[in-house]
Amino acid sequence: MKIPQKLLDTLKKIGLDEKIYEERSRKCVLSKEYPGMEVVPWCENAYFVPEGLEKENNFVFDPVSLVPCLALQPEKNDRILDMCAAPGAKTHILSFLTENEADITANDVDARRIMRLRYNAKKFGIKCRIINESGRKIQGSYNKILVDVPCSGSGMVNKKEKLFRHWNSRRVKIFAKKQKKLAEHAFEILERNGILVYSTCTFQPEENEAVVDHLLDKFSDSRIEEINVNVNHARGITEWDDRRFKEEIQKCIRIYPQHNKTGGFFVAKIRKRI
Ligand SMILES: C[S@@+](CC[C@H](N)C(=O)[O-])C[C@H]1O[C@@H](n2cnc3c(N)ncnc32)[C@H](O)[C@@H]1O
Repeated sequence: MKIPQKLLDTLKKIGLDEKIYEERSRKCVLSKEYPGMEVVPWCENAYFVPEGLEKENNFVFDPVSLVPCLALQPEKNDRILDMCAAPGAKTHILSFLTENEADITANDVDARRIMRLRYNAKKFGIKCRIINESGRKIQGSYNKILVDVPCSGSGMVNKKEKLFRHWNSRRVKIFAKKQKKLAEHAFEILERNGILVYSTCTFQPEENEAVVDHLLDKFSDSRIEEINVNVNHARGITEWDDRRFKEEIQKCIRIYPQHNKTGGFFVAKIRKRI
């Protein structure tokens, strides 16, 4: 399958090439007991699953998904909103990290995907309140919010056929507009001193650094923080086309497939000042 030229141009400008799509994305599971498998270096209770040994009764996911959840620093007494949650990989991680004691609300706008989230929550014993509406309409207040937005998905090395078929620059623009609105609303319902983690599985700066730069402009009480997760990564970029982003955007992290043999990811951690 042919990779779209504009996507190739993006990769080249970032310093990647199409070989990244040949990198294999490894899978992992979370477990309290040591199951005799290789530990994921950035999470002590996550283990790589050997190929072909994916177990029916385990929630198996790309270990890069741990990063935004760890960046959120979830704790047992937190009120957490997972704004774009289906099918629930990150809700599962958040509930595991808080020993199922945090007050977690998992939302998604897509009714079919919510059914998968419900199924997974039941099957894997994830304790959370599930809601089905646009993230932009959610009311209430939360001290931790994960916004794992819908995106053009150029970091998904294991879904490349579908990705190449649908990728175009118009979609990138549409996603960027939607992402800004979701992130803005998330910041509005975030409590003072709370943490918002914004994440995507795309390399596209319009959907990553540009969205974070927009948030910093819009909310004078927002501040980017360093992400202390022991995963190989590159820093957020500060120049793209004719745009310059704020210097502190370098605190965001870009995870490329060759760094850890996972899918590609972008993660930003934003604090609401007291
Ligand atoms: C990247 S996926 C989320 C993956 C999920 N966090 C996980 O780890 O399993 C993005 C999700 O955003 C949802 N979405 C799209 N627009 C939305 C909106 N306006 N409000 C809430 N969710 C939305 C999509 O249905 C999709 O499930």
